[in-house]
Amino acid sequence: MNLKQEVYNVLKQLKDYGELDNLVIDSIDASKGDFCLPCFSLAKIMRKSPMMIADDIANSLNINGTTIEKIESVAGYVNFFLNKAKISESVLNNFNISRNQPNGKVVCIDYCSVNLAKYMHIGHLKNSFLGESLARLFENFGYKVVRINYIGDYGTPYGKIIAGIQMWGNDDDINTRGIDALQEYYVKFCAAEAEDENLQQLARDLSKKIEDKDSEIYPIYQKVIEIARKEAERLLDILGLHFDSWKGEASYANDVNKVVDMLDQKGLISISQGATIVDLSKFDMPPCLVKRSDGASIYASRDIAAAIDRYNDYKFDKMLYLTAVEQKLHFAQFFKVLELAGMPFSSGLEHISYGRFSLPNGKISSRRGKQAVLVDLIDYVLDKANDVIKNRTFNIENPKDVALKVAKGVLSFNALNIERNKDAIFDIERAFSFEGETAPYMQYTYTRVMSILRKAQGLNLDNIISDYSCLDQIQAFELIKMCCNLNNTLKLALDKRDPSIVLKYCMEMCKTLNKYYTVCKILDDNLPQVKAKLQLICLVKNVLSVAFNIICLETMEEM
Ligand code: ARG
Repeated sequence: MNLKQEVYNVLKQLKDYGELDNLVIDSIDASKGDFCLPCFSLAKIMRKSPMMIADDIANSLNINGTTIEKIESVAGYVNFFLNKAKISESVLNNFNISRNQPNGKVVCIDYCSVNLAKYMHIGHLKNSFLGESLARLFENFGYKVVRINYIGDYGTPYGKIIAGIQMWGNDDDINTRGIDALQEYYVKFCAAEAEDENLQQLARDLSKKIEDKDSEIYPIYQKVIEIARKEAERLLDILGLHFDSWKGEASYANDVNKVVDMLDQKGLISISQGATIVDLSKFDMPPCLVKRSDGASIYASRDIAAAIDRYNDYKFDKMLYLTAVEQKLHFAQFFKVLELAGMPFSSGLEHISYGRFSLPNGKISSRRGKQAVLVDLIDYVLDKANDVIKNRTFNIENPKDVALKVAKGVLSFNALNIERNKDAIFDIERAFSFEGETAPYMQYTYTRVMSILRKAQGLNLDNIISDYSCLDQIQAFELIKMCCNLNNTLKLALDKRDPSIVLKYCMEMCKTLNKYYTVCKILDDNLPQVKAKLQLICLVKNVLSVAFNIICLETMEEM
């Protein structure tokens, strides 16, 4: 619902001004009305002062029978005041919260895309929640989304892990300690290899054997991948994140010659120092390397093969790739190559990068090497959430369940809270406060709504006719307006690829709602007004449910 439409409808009466709708903006403070039309840009065209134009417009509009209550001309602005009771009534009785119809379009989102040779880290948290939130935004607007976790399951790191297993490992240890054992061998091997050329050769030989599917080595590799993938799935499952495809880099390692042939047919290939490249100097970019001089495949050629494969599988309209900004050039290069190769889907490819996300130094201890990794962070946050919920003064029915939702909320909130491209430090202690701009604050606000609605169930309002006049109160009407902005907010977040816009929207709504409770008793004796207020609270709840879901924030009955 777009309340500006009410103003547009009135502006249609004007014939001499051309298109004015685009000039209408939200008023900054309620004393200046709900919307205003600044007349400054009209002054040149009309050859009149903005003050005179605003006077003329205000005087010539007829608002009888409309939802506009008053029009004022002040210092070059035309201010529009909505009839709050009328608008509230119409919004509360007509608001349609259902999501958009399927639009027949497909979006692939390549996110998380964890390198299985290493522990997941805090960067994956940012990446994964951004990807998931964008996925939900696209779904909200009717797209079919394919979630792809393009795992890093290829390359010399696996040769090194296997070398480490052969030197120090045994099945028992791997089976019991899983990923921790593998990571330990990997780190140990990397240290040893730095001093010993023979070990470097060993790792290369083993990597080659993996590629050749050697009967002895390949099964070990498969086991390594299985263990690492299970752990990644376990962590992502705690976060509530699930993927449609886990097809990783290794699946495309053998496509390098196919890719080179295809590019060669289009006359794009040249050889430079033995390596196969696509020259991109015309586009101010370094050449895109597609095949190494030893014939091995390269990150870019695997990505080219993967993009073609995904187009064949999903016929996507768009494909988004989420990575840290460091990979910007890689994406620009292979997107260009696909464009030059005339791939029909190349214009739908998009790289989405984001700012650095980190913990304050030494905040969380790690059992696993120098830096805290994702599993440490998740454990820490889960423990802390359990403590917080245990210390609540009243009995909660499912404390474990509530604590898990709080923990997940703290993680998604902090991953999405800051504008996508800005750097952020995760202030993990403050994150659990029930006050200030935090996830628990928002979740708690929601439980307050639920509690009011529960209490209201005791009232018999069936035969009561709502009295909307009480909704002209400032915060009440703010809430009405905010609800009407849901769709625009989601659209803006989608267009900017930035869920932080939705998070801010939720936060403002929660703050306004809490303010509303302090100035207005919802359940008083005036039942017609109670009914109207409850309709408002109910709408706010439904809007918050939709918006919370987009930012991966779960709701509960109590906390
Ligand atoms: N696995 C890569 C990394 O950890 C990210 C992959 C991103 N997706 C892609 N299609 N290249 O850096």
